[in-house]
Amino acid sequence: MIKKCLFPVAGYGTRFLPATKAMPKEMMPVVNKPLVQYGVEEAAEASMTKIAFVTGRNKRAIEDHFDVTYELEDQISGTSKERYLTSIRALIDQCTFSYTRQTSMKGLGHAILTGEVLVGNSPFGVILADDLCVGEDKSVMAQLLDVYEKYRCSVVAVEEVPLSEVHKYGVVAGDVGDDGVIFINDMVEKPDKGHAPTNLAIIGRYILTPDIFDILRNISPGKDGEVQITDALLQQARQEKVIACKFKGKRFDCGNVDGFVAGTNYFYQKMKHAES
Ligand code: UTP
Repeated sequence: MIKKCLFPVAGYGTRFLPATKAMPKEMMPVVNKPLVQYGVEEAAEASMTKIAFVTGRNKRAIEDHFDVTYELEDQISGTSKERYLTSIRALIDQCTFSYTRQTSMKGLGHAILTGEVLVGNSPFGVILADDLCVGEDKSVMAQLLDVYEKYRCSVVAVEEVPLSEVHKYGVVAGDVGDDGVIFINDMVEKPDKGHAPTNLAIIGRYILTPDIFDILRNISPGKDGEVQITDALLQQARQEKVIACKFKGKRFDCGNVDGFVAGTNYFYQKMKHAES
């Protein structure tokens, strides 16, 4: 069983400035819940209840969110407003939370390597909370877990995106297995226009085996001078095996304004539907 899930949340969220000047991007609310809470709920649904955050400066609100707010809770205790805290209280009861800081933003690969101290030597999930996912029958992380349990190797979630968008993503190519998974044999981080091997883009859900840490420690910075998880995964795919899984469900890229608004509309409609 994989119990640990890593949340790299150290990025600056520059695409949302000025909103993210003093507030973490991951605390932006989609309707009435911060993005990061959706991510932790997804991890918990996949039984990953040891939550590990790689944080940075200005991210203290995340720690406070996953803790008791004594004064407020005392104030509304026994009133009709108490129900608003039901979801977060359930998570706090169900999960443990640990934190470490990435002191310089050297990329997602570097953030994941920074999390080694929290994750140790076992396979672990990774959730990028700004990719807000809604699984079809089960959560996207639970879908990856099914694939991991079958193949026991690193697994990444991928989505087909329009060719005009592939330059924003890590893109994979490989051989398709009988059950539809893709055995990766090529990966390119943010390919230049016309150079993408496919339109299969990696989204913010991964299960990684711990040998990824040694690879990350030893690779050189790649695209944009950052330590890229894509480069490490390609090396892992060549040394052993890495699988891409086309998840069933929806994803909203809440790291940009269009995706954030689409995600907000989706969850607002869902809430209204539940109320009616
Ligand atoms: P993004 O590039 O989407 O996030 O990184 P960002 O850097 O915060 O946003 P922009 O581009 O400036 O608007 C994907 C994820 O990886 C984390 C981010 O917090 C985000 O969840 N990350 C990225 C780190 O934790 N550390 C890094 O050095 C880079």
